[in-house]
Amino acid sequence: MGSSLLSGKVALVTGAARGLGRDYARRFAQDGAAVAVVDLDGDGARRTAAELIDIGASACSEAVDICDSAGTASAVTRIAQSLGGIDILINNAGIWGDLKMTTVLETDVDYWRTVLDVNVTGCFVMTKAVASVMKQRGWGRIVNVSSQGAWKPGGIYSLTKLALHSLSYSAAAELAQHGITVNSLAVGPTYNAATQRQVPPEAFERGLATNLIKRAGTSDDMYGAIRYLCSDDAAYVTAQVISPNGGQFPQF
Ligand SMILES: NC(=O)c1ccc[n+]([C@@H]2O[C@H](COP(=O)([O-])OP(=O)(O)OC[C@H]3O[C@@H](n4cnc5c(N)ncnc54)[C@H](O)[C@@H]3O)[C@@H](O)[C@H]2O)c1
Repeated sequence: MGSSLLSGKVALVTGAARGLGRDYARRFAQDGAAVAVVDLDGDGARRTAAELIDIGASACSEAVDICDSAGTASAVTRIAQSLGGIDILINNAGIWGDLKMTTVLETDVDYWRTVLDVNVTGCFVMTKAVASVMKQRGWGRIVNVSSQGAWKPGGIYSLTKLALHSLSYSAAAELAQHGITVNSLAVGPTYNAATQRQVPPEAFERGLATNLIKRAGTSDDMYGAIRYLCSDDAAYVTAQVISPNGGQFPQF
């Protein structure tokens, strides 16, 4: 196991059956937190939780569609009972690896609504359910996982990620009085399995050409910022957008 920085804390990570969420869940466990793994993919969520238990952490999993408010609320209640509360929420689940890449005008209206529902409404639903648990302790950390794509043309995907910044601002304003901070993490260029499905290597390399730090980001680079936002050191940091992106400016 790693540090004990988050020892005694309970972290709920959505979209942790695979990809970045799974890596964040493992890092939270290594930092001493108990971890709830939440995903639409119940088998994947169970696998991640089993990996965390194998390294000595407390962990549980829930198969949840974050758009389903009743299902989300009951899963959150079970998690809080099983792990003894919820201190940290990482709203990481979203449609990215499985995204149908289309321009705005090519996008089917129903598909537009689906992506909006998962990437934005799902984070709102989860925030609503978890905030009521956090309020009981008067302490909480919520991180909405956005993207540097929020500041670039990228159709419905970019729109949803920019909307998360707004969700963070409003939730931060409401929850500050309860000791809960809400921030956005605009994930930088990370060439993981999901991104490899969406972005050809040449295009990814071209994107890196404008970076000050000439390499792709890793899940550890992203987790470093998450861990800071979830620590006591970030008690005065709320309604902010942090983008670990190697020094990339919002230009295209
Ligand atoms: N990988 C990157 O480079 C990158 C860059 C910017 C932002 N992000 C964001 O980081 C997050 C994770 O990215 P990733 O690369 O691991 O993507 P991914 O597609 O591999 O993982 C997404 C996870 O979310 C889950 N999910 C999807 N819809 C859900 C729903 N309705 N309810 C519950 N779970 C659901 C999926 O089952 C999956 O496990 C996403 O929000 C993505 O937009 C990723």
